[in-house]
Amino acid sequence: MDFRISVLATFLVGALMLTTASCQETYPPTDMTRHSIIPRPESVVATNHTFVLDEGLSIRVEEGNETFKKEALRLATILKNATGVDFDVEEGNEAAWFGNTLLLKKPAENQPLPLSGYELEIKERLITLTASSPEGVFYGIQTIRQLLPAAIEKTGELKTPVLIPTGIIRDWPQYGYRGMMLDVARHFFDVSTVKRVIDYLAYYKLNTLHLHLSDDQGWRIEIESWPNLTTHGGSTAVGGGEGGFFTKADYREIVEYAKGQHITIVPEIDMPGHTNAALSSYPELNCDGIAPELYTGTRVGFSTLCTDKEITYQFVDDVVREIAEMTPGPWFHVGGDESHSTEQEDYEYFMNRARAIVKSHGKQIIGWDEVAHADLDETDVVQFWSKEENALLGVQKGAKLLMSPSKHAYIDMKYDENSRLGLDWAGPSEVDDAYTWDPVTLMDGIEKVDIIGVEAPLWAETIETLDDIEYLMFPRIAGIAEIGWTMREDRRWEEYRVRLGQHRDRMKAMGIDFYESPLVPWQEQADYFMNIELTDEGDE
Ligand code: ACM
Repeated sequence: MDFRISVLATFLVGALMLTTASCQETYPPTDMTRHSIIPRPESVVATNHTFVLDEGLSIRVEEGNETFKKEALRLATILKNATGVDFDVEEGNEAAWFGNTLLLKKPAENQPLPLSGYELEIKERLITLTASSPEGVFYGIQTIRQLLPAAIEKTGELKTPVLIPTGIIRDWPQYGYRGMMLDVARHFFDVSTVKRVIDYLAYYKLNTLHLHLSDDQGWRIEIESWPNLTTHGGSTAVGGGEGGFFTKADYREIVEYAKGQHITIVPEIDMPGHTNAALSSYPELNCDGIAPELYTGTRVGFSTLCTDKEITYQFVDDVVREIAEMTPGPWFHVGGDESHSTEQEDYEYFMNRARAIVKSHGKQIIGWDEVAHADLDETDVVQFWSKEENALLGVQKGAKLLMSPSKHAYIDMKYDENSRLGLDWAGPSEVDDAYTWDPVTLMDGIEKVDIIGVEAPLWAETIETLDDIEYLMFPRIAGIAEIGWTMREDRRWEEYRVRLGQHRDRMKAMGIDFYESPLVPWQEQADYFMNIELTDEGDE
């Protein structure tokens, strides 16, 4: 371009931008504290002005920061999907001189942030998202999603300009492990369903998905050295359906997809009980050498691997090795619950050997709370679900606790007696039951340092589709997410229920078939989120 034309063009663009900027003055102020952010951030300070997100937005990342750039591109994709606008992602550490800017950067050395934390400073022309790690940026982006109208979650439905309230959010999680468990054994869920669940977890800043890959009713992960596990053991499900399993390629795809959203996969092979599908696939794993029939009912506690046959440990070694090889996360879940058909002495002998095998493949064990009876140390994790004495025994041995109290965190329980899905042995569990508990005060004798985090197990006896998953998962998972993320002092049911009510249109926009609990004041977005009307006004 000719230099003079270039100068003229720049001048005209600048003048246009200034005109646009002056129009922004017509936008009334917006109050950040009126926005419902779940999980609740560490601190939110509103400055009561407005940032206008329009086509001119430029997203900038400090030069050479490739991992942050990946996150910036993710944000650009979210915005593009919702608005149809291609936003530029450029390198640079300062605001653009015209238009508005969203800048991603690392904290200054004298202003450190916790590793997974972020600071989101929103001024009238500049949003600065500061984080020490890519996951911190990722969490900041989830917060930005929640500061935008619900239409951000729908393809092509968000009209620009969009108003974002100004202010400063500083935020980081209380616990490093914030998870959900999906049982793919009682009923099988395919890769696309699991990916959707991962999307939902990421939205609420959860970072772990535990996959319950085997149980009496089905074996769901390909093991090359023991192929019958899936061809036979994976061929049915509760109620006698056709079952299914993940090939190794499927599992790798899930792990990779999860990693992209900063979610770690924890594989579980439940043993020595809950093993009928394996026992049915290989007669030699049974003490009497006879393979039982496949099982499609819902009883528990009737199966056990033969703990005094060497072939059992060869089996465990092969299974753990093949799965551990595909699993970048630090954990391997060995199950260990409800082994009612295993003598206690045999159970402990088995668990000690299984634990050693897991360690030999470079992983740490997590086990349901009965595993506390094995020889544990500070590298192990006991998942509390049922017996406090097991949790305390684990802590005495130096192990860490993962908190999944069945009364509160089991999101497979019915909400009330009318729920169309779910079990009720630990419930019912309404939305407040799932929210009003704290990992530390749940039982005497434990401290926060004993706890790695929280997990909401979703057992699948009664569920078969993504819709079914959504109904039991939502909205309870949002409360579990907040327990894992937000300080106890900042969690109050009366305040939370209002914030949750404001997520109605967000869940709807994501297509989530959630349970509309009568305990929650569900609100249409327009009731509290004024941006849509203001945008119309601003367009005039
Ligand atoms: C369990 O619910 N059996 C861990």
